Parts: sequence; C-alpha cells; structure tokens
Amino acid sequence: MNVRDENVLRELNLYPLWVRRGVPVPEAVVAEPVMPAVAEVLPQVKAEAPVAKAPSVVEIPDVASVPEIASLDWAALKERVRDCAVCKLRAGCTQTVFGVGDEQADWLFVGEGPGADEDAQGEPFVGQAGKLLDNMLFSIGLKRGEKVYIANVVKCRPPGNRNPEPDEISACLPYLQRQIALIQPKLIVALGKTAATALLGRDVPLGSLRGTLHDFHGTPLIITYHPAYLLRSPAEKAKAWQDLCFARQQME
Ligand code: URA
Repeated sequence: MNVRDENVLRELNLYPLWVRRGVPVPEAVVAEPVMPAVAEVLPQVKAEAPVAKAPSVVEIPDVASVPEIASLDWAALKERVRDCAVCKLRAGCTQTVFGVGDEQADWLFVGEGPGADEDAQGEPFVGQAGKLLDNMLFSIGLKRGEKVYIANVVKCRPPGNRNPEPDEISACLPYLQRQIALIQPKLIVALGKTAATALLGRDVPLGSLRGTLHDFHGTPLIITYHPAYLLRSPAEKAKAWQDLCFARQQME
C-alpha cells in the first residue's frame, strides 16, 4: 500500500481495517470488512451488474415547467430560495440552506436536506456527516469549494430530521435543477436514496443503482451511500470507497 492509499483509508476511517489479501486478519477486526487494494476496486465495480427492479415512478417536476426559475441567474436564484415559502418546511426551519462551493464546479455532490447543524449555520454538510463527506472528498483528491459544489434536494431542514416528503421534494427540486443548469458539472454524485430518487425520477433500492453511470439530463450521475448512513453502518464504507473510485475514474 502506498502512502496516499494509506492516508485515504485513514481519512475514511477504514484504516487499520484494511488488510492485504492472503494476510491473516487480526481477530479484533474479523467482524469488519476487509478492504481490497485500491487497484482492485475498479474491476469489482465494473463487474457489479445492476439488478433489474420494477421502479416505482416518482413525480419529478421539470424545471422547464417552472419558467420563472429556469431563467434565474445565481443572485436571483439565491434570493428566490432565501424567500421561498412554497412548502411547509420553511415554517419549521431557521433558514434556507442554498448550497456551497465553486459555481463552475466539475463535481456536484447532492445530499438530502439540511440537518440541525446545517440549519444553524446555513451551509450544507457541516455536521458529523459533513466531516465524513469532507474525508470522502479528500480521499479522491477533492476539497470542498475547489471544483466541487455541494447542494441538497431540499433547502429547508425537515422537522426532527425526518425524510423530506414527496410534495416537499417536488416543491424544492426546481431550485436544484436550476443550480445544476448554472453549474454545468461534469459529474453529479447523488448521496443517498432521496437524492438518487429525486434525480432519477424513480424509486429503486440504492444498492441496485451503484456501480452504474446514470444520466441526469445529459450529465453523468453516480449514486452512492449518504455519509449519515455510513456513520450508522461503517461496514458499508468499503462500498462507498468503490463508488468514489468509480467516480474518479469517470472524471479521468
Ligand atoms: N445531510 C444532508 O443530506 N445534507 C446536509 O446538508 C447535511 C446532512
């Protein structure tokens, strides 16, 4: 393992769980995932055949059907989101959380919606999940704000951190769609099921969406686990690492 790989796995909290194939696994970590060497990850991703599932269709508004949003520039869009009260979420949150980063980013990471920390600070992914997201970015040579933009499907914190409801997603999605149109990223990475469902317009298990290059109106889209889920299920970090390698490979 070279020093960069070691640093990367350490940043993802995967080190020292990483062990080389053929080397006995220390007893303390047998219950944890055994990480493949970084170079071995990509062929595994490619080999992973997407599972065909009957998708349930989600009603997704097309930004073209909201012409007054489709024509907004950055300043007007930010103002529009700040003043938005279209759905019931705004009444229960402190402030809207627009998004952060390079407005000409190559990479767009899309989460679900603000949590308590984001609601307080007005910036996406600043809590524990945000720390892990920053480590995930670092692991593929990225940094928040440098060729990276981070946004959420909904801009207001759902009460009690519940999942956003379909009507809330529908009301807010035109803003994300306009952000995507303005940024014109080379790649979108959907973090978790809410982002995947909103961007794909169909509701299928997240596991079956991984390892495949999807399309969002002509922009390549990759789907991986949400950092908050990875904090609850650290054994899945190995799969997220595969997805990040897949994403990096697409960009190269
Ligand atoms: N989870 C999200 O989906 N977005 C955030 O901004 C923070 C946590």
